[in-house]
Parts: sequence; C-alpha cells; structure tokens
Amino acid sequence: MSTLAIKGGSPVRRKPFTEWPIFDEQEEAALLKVFRSGKWWRFAFGQGVELTEPEEGEHSQTALFQKEFAEYHECKYGIAAANGTGTLEIGIRAMDLAVGDEIIVPAYTYVASATCVLQNNLVPIFVDVDPDTYNIDPERIEQAITDRTRAIMVVHFGGQPADMDRITAIADKHNLAVIEDAAHAHGCEWKGKKAGSMSLFSSFSFQAAKNMTAGEGGIILTDDEAFAAECDSMVWSGRRTGRPWYEFHRLGWNYRMTEFQGAILRVQLQRLEKQILHRERMGDYLSTLLDGLDGVSPLVRDERTTRHGYHIYMFRYDEQAIGVPKEKFVDALVAEGIPAFGGYTFGLYRNPMFLNKKFINGGFPLGTEYHEDIDYASFAEKCPVSERACNSEAVWLPQNLLLGNKKDMDDIAEAIEKVLKNKNEL
Ligand SMILES: Cc1ncc(COP(=O)(O)O)c(C=O)c1O
Repeated sequence: MSTLAIKGGSPVRRKPFTEWPIFDEQEEAALLKVFRSGKWWRFAFGQGVELTEPEEGEHSQTALFQKEFAEYHECKYGIAAANGTGTLEIGIRAMDLAVGDEIIVPAYTYVASATCVLQNNLVPIFVDVDPDTYNIDPERIEQAITDRTRAIMVVHFGGQPADMDRITAIADKHNLAVIEDAAHAHGCEWKGKKAGSMSLFSSFSFQAAKNMTAGEGGIILTDDEAFAAECDSMVWSGRRTGRPWYEFHRLGWNYRMTEFQGAILRVQLQRLEKQILHRERMGDYLSTLLDGLDGVSPLVRDERTTRHGYHIYMFRYDEQAIGVPKEKFVDALVAEGIPAFGGYTFGLYRNPMFLNKKFINGGFPLGTEYHEDIDYASFAEKCPVSERACNSEAVWLPQNLLLGNKKDMDDIAEAIEKVLKNKNEL
C-alpha cells in the first residue's frame, strides 16, 4: 500500500466533507424578518409572554421555537436560553436542593455537565461509563449513591441515548430525580421515546457544532408546569410571567435567548428530521465498514436506540494491539484528509479546577464540610473506561461528515485501513 500522507505520500482524500452549519435563504429570510421588525428580544412582545400556546403571526420567534421544539420532543414545556451550560444550571437550581447535596454525573462528558452542579453549591460525583457506548454505566451507579445523592444525570453521549430503563429503575428505587443532558441528542430516541422526554428535565445545546445550531443557544424541556415556571423565571432575572416587570421573585439571571436565535432555530428544526435519518444511515454504514477492520471497532449501537443522532461518530482504537499511540494514529488520519479528533484528552476530574477544588469561594461552599476529604484525582481509579477512552481509545468524527454520501464513508474507512496497514511508518 502507498506511503502515508503524513510521511509525504498522497492522501486518500483531498475533497472537503459537507460543511456545517447547513443553511440557506430560509434562515436568511427568517433573520431579515426579525431584523426589519426591530423586535430583537422577547420583551418586545410584552413582558408576559406565555410559556405555552403562542399563536403564529406577530409573535416572539423564541416563544414559538420553545413550543415547536418541546412538541417535537413530546414535552409540554420548553424554556429557551442563551446556551446549554446555562440551561443545565438553571434546571438544577429549580430543583431547590440543599447545599452539599450530590448529583451523579458521567465521567466521560463535557465540563458543563459537572459545573452546572457546582454552580448550585452541589457536589458532582463521577461515575464511569460503559465501554461499549461511553454512556453512564448503570452497573456502577448504585455504588456511588449516598444519603446525600439527589439526582442522576445522564448525558446521551454522541447522540446515543443512555440506558434509560435501568437508570430510571435505579432512580425510582432510591427516590432520585433523573436529569438528561441532551446537548448531543436532538431528535434521538430510546425505544421510540424522544431523548429529553424521560426525566424531570432535559437540557439541549444549540452551540455551533451541535446537530441544530444558531451559533449559541440552549433549551430546557419538562412536563412539570411548576418546574417550567421556575426555570422561566430564572431566565428572566427572577420575574414572573404576568407579574409587573420590576417584581423579582427568585434569584435569577439574564439567560435570555435573542429573537435572532429563535428565528434561526425554527428553520433548523425543520431540517432536523431529514438530517437525523441521513446521519443515521451513514453512521450505521460506516460501522459495517469499520467492523471489518482489525484494531478499530465502532461503539455499539444498543438495539433499544431507535434513533441515533450520531452527533459524534466514535470508534475505539486498540492502542495496545496496534502499538502506535492514539495521537499519532489520529494525526496520520488527519493527514489522509479525514478530520478525526482524539476527543477529551484526559479525565474531566483531572482538570486543575477539580484537583485544586477551585469552586465557589475558592473551594466547596459552606455547608459542604462533609466533602472536605473528597479527592477528585481518586476518580481516575474509579473510572478506568473513561481513562482509557481519553488516553488511548476514543476517536471522534464530527457529525457533518455523516451528512455526506456513501463514498465519503468509504474514504473514511479506506484512510483508517491505510494508516493501520502502514503503522510501521509511524
Ligand atoms: C455534553 C454537553 N453538555 C453541555 C454542553 C454545553 O452546551 P453549550 O456549549 O451550549 O453551553 C455541551 C457543549 O458542548 C456538551 O457537549
């Protein structure tokens, strides 16, 4: 086989993959409409904008988007906000937990899944992930439950729903809430049920890389009316819908989504279904190609995952068998024209913030003396799968690659095969 591109050979692929975001004159028209109306924020439509049932016409785009996104995900209420970090934080705040309560979070995730807990003076307890899916491992959750545990957060990582059957059963048994961080899971399904609709609340992100985007943005979904009203209040600085504008009922923040974001997201939502089906076809096809290669294996698609979002297409690289560090393998793949990425570089709990406990007031807040001895470095031992995924195993391909055609998938597989066959050059 030919010389690796990283060593001066010609790359498997020179053509760029499908670019992201996908947009056209529909987003342009929606944006222009908002721009020309001069109504650039939700308050322009009156301060008492309903949480539900807004009518089409002269209405807030953000309010309409909330309704449409919630309906699509089979939820009653949607509360849009500036980003998905804010929505996680607000949702947890609306639970009104006590300082020092614990929330179980998966070890392999983005920092926001844990900082939203800390921002509420609560303590994140990391639980390792399943080696086949990189979703929180239900097998390990019960060992982490203490008398301070109040909730289990799942992250539907990469667009594959976590095992909601077992997690819901554990939560019910211990009287815990379930929270879904659905930042990767727009339109995904577990046994025909939409991700984001199987818990007290879920949180989605519309940041630039996500499967639906307005550059930034987030939304909370819930079926609980009182909970939705609390979240809505906190997005609006603590106001209450229907009450005077200078009346603040609880500690809030300005987390409002702009009308520009709402308008773009309404169009992006129209594109979602078709794109999910396409990514799913390509992702499953790519997995059949990688199944035939020694040294790499796709993550396992659970048969109960009825819609996989493939926000990240992940495969496992067997560093030990191949004898080349993951980093070098990924660099070689990139040189072949495949924008692969090694993902998280080390366990989340190994970040200086956790090692030095640089949280609120420089440490854990008052009332958390119980946690003085917590040593986040010790999670490395408790989370071997997450450690392995970061250090040597996980390789990520971004979702936009899966918006291409079968030839694109063939190129990806060919490049991987080429690097594996010529590993001695590395
Ligand atoms: C798992 C997860 N949760 C939460 C977030 C936060 O979303 P945002 O970037 O909109 O704040 C992200 C963003 O990358 C994420 O990957």
